[in-house]
Amino acid sequence: MCGIVGYLGPMNPKDVIVAGLKKLEYRGYDSAGVAILHQGKTKRVRAEGKLKALEEKLQAEPFDGHLGIGHTRWATHGGPSERNAHPHQVRGISLVHNGIIENYADIREALLARGAEISSDTDSELVAHLLAEEVEKTGSLLKSVQNILDRIHGAFSIVAMWDQDPETMVAFKDGPPLVVGLGDNQTFVVSDVQACLQYTKKFIYLDDREVVHVHKNKVQVYSAKGEPLTKKVVEVDWSEEAVEKQGHAHFMLKEIYEQPRSVAAAMEPHLDIDKFKVRLKRVGFNQPLERLEGLDIEADWQNTQKVLKGVERIFMIACGTSNYAAMVGKYLLEKIAKVPVETDIASEFRYRDPVLPPNTLVMTISQSGETADTLAAIRLAKEKGALTLSLCNVRGSSIDREAHGHLYMNSGPEIGVASTKAFTSTLTVLNCFAAAFGQIKGTISPGEEKTYVQALLATPSQLEGVLAYDKYFSETAEVLKTYKGFLYMGRGVSFPIAMEGALKLKELAYLHAEGYAAGEMKHGPLALIDERMAIIMLVPEDGLYEKSMSNLEEARARGGKIIALGTGEDEKLRRVSAEYLPLPKALWTVNPILSVVPLQLMAYHLADNLGYDVDQPRNLAKSVTVE
Ligand code: F6R
Repeated sequence: MCGIVGYLGPMNPKDVIVAGLKKLEYRGYDSAGVAILHQGKTKRVRAEGKLKALEEKLQAEPFDGHLGIGHTRWATHGGPSERNAHPHQVRGISLVHNGIIENYADIREALLARGAEISSDTDSELVAHLLAEEVEKTGSLLKSVQNILDRIHGAFSIVAMWDQDPETMVAFKDGPPLVVGLGDNQTFVVSDVQACLQYTKKFIYLDDREVVHVHKNKVQVYSAKGEPLTKKVVEVDWSEEAVEKQGHAHFMLKEIYEQPRSVAAAMEPHLDIDKFKVRLKRVGFNQPLERLEGLDIEADWQNTQKVLKGVERIFMIACGTSNYAAMVGKYLLEKIAKVPVETDIASEFRYRDPVLPPNTLVMTISQSGETADTLAAIRLAKEKGALTLSLCNVRGSSIDREAHGHLYMNSGPEIGVASTKAFTSTLTVLNCFAAAFGQIKGTISPGEEKTYVQALLATPSQLEGVLAYDKYFSETAEVLKTYKGFLYMGRGVSFPIAMEGALKLKELAYLHAEGYAAGEMKHGPLALIDERMAIIMLVPEDGLYEKSMSNLEEARARGGKIIALGTGEDEKLRRVSAEYLPLPKALWTVNPILSVVPLQLMAYHLADNLGYDVDQPRNLAKSVTVE
């Protein structure tokens, strides 16, 4: 959940590290700090609060070294405060850590028994103590890391430096991501490639329990047993501009506006536009990840068809917004491909000892590809013998690397903590997947496939029109924010969208919101409704229109203010709604892609109007790499 930047090279480490931390602030933002070599010693500066506080403190600080580490924190052990901020320093060792050390209590007790003076409440500082003890014995930072690796358990990625060896940094991980950026005569060790994209596009992704030794820009990765490894260097094609706001007030707004393009990019690899057919490209079942790009597309499609033909049921596993996308996927796959689909939240799936019969495909969805529960879920599915398929945005991420087959959102970097464009890209890929599956299973005719493909192809330009709700919600936010609560309702594919709309409002505007299946209202939540409750009702023209209208009437009869999202000029719906928001006419399969956008804009504007930090909501982090 925290962001890490380590740098060894000729540029000013302060500038490189702070610029990198800015790109990683989405990972955690309750305190930050740096430790940079200065006149032969590491000088540490830390500050509670957002990165801005650290930047202010650093303004007057000169550094003349070429080596440093920095950290932006999302508190786990020990509250957010300067003394708990990283880097932690113990007798010349400086260290930054992302994750949780599970056996910290035992380590702490043993350290105290040996007379250690512990100055923070964190588990991270304890690792610095262990390393300090080891370097005093071995005189080598690398050896010391190798010696302590088996003594720390949990989820961690750590970068360490030592005053006595100013040409070296050593990093190691088990769980949270750590990537080595290879520049000209300079090396970066970061939690996410975004932190140093302006300097290099060449990266080595560390695997669990690997140790990287960076010495005078020679980079060597070792296994946990100390054997030198040859690692693949991956070229990342994300541009630096893609991680800038490009004139928008917030990353979230920029990402909402990117959706016509990102949705087009998500479908592009999988559609044969001339023939209106779907082909899942470069899924690469059982191909090593690094061979994916070079795959013969025809051969891959043949293999993908063969593998998917044998699948009899699907489990879709994810967290948060990605889980709501999975729920839409269930409706798509069951209706189009007639395959039974179960969806589950990863944190539940992994602990409920799920029964996975033969010929089960477990599909995980994760923007970051690093969510700890989803990663554990895919590992469990593999242990139980299931075939796995990941749908990630970040290529080469832990979940992507773990899966047998791979699909990508193709959204480009998503920086706003609240997921927007990755969600609509996921829905787009799931549309392609469902149509491809239907084709393979023989449950749809070429004509039906064409209809699905045509509906998808129309969405980018339809999304352009839907973005006009930006103005509407910026003007109505002042009134909307006065409601005591918000009830989002939908049926069928609109049910997960209702939940996603409510989640966006909760996480950004800190307002009470609930997403409900409209047909479930009379089993309890109807009691919540009075004239101080806003009802956001999704009533697209689909097979469930009449049913949804009845649910709307039930809510209206109890005094709720109805804000309805419908299809085109629906006069009947307009008449019964306090506010009516028309959406373009579309097939039911793509309605969720269109209808979620006004809900994203509504949450954005309410949060902004209330003065909250839209890109970094309180208590949250973008990449949840701890349980
Ligand atoms: C909400 C949001 C989160 C994520 C969830 C899973 O706006 O972004 O609910 O969807 O933390 O993250 P990924 O998709 O990276 O696994």
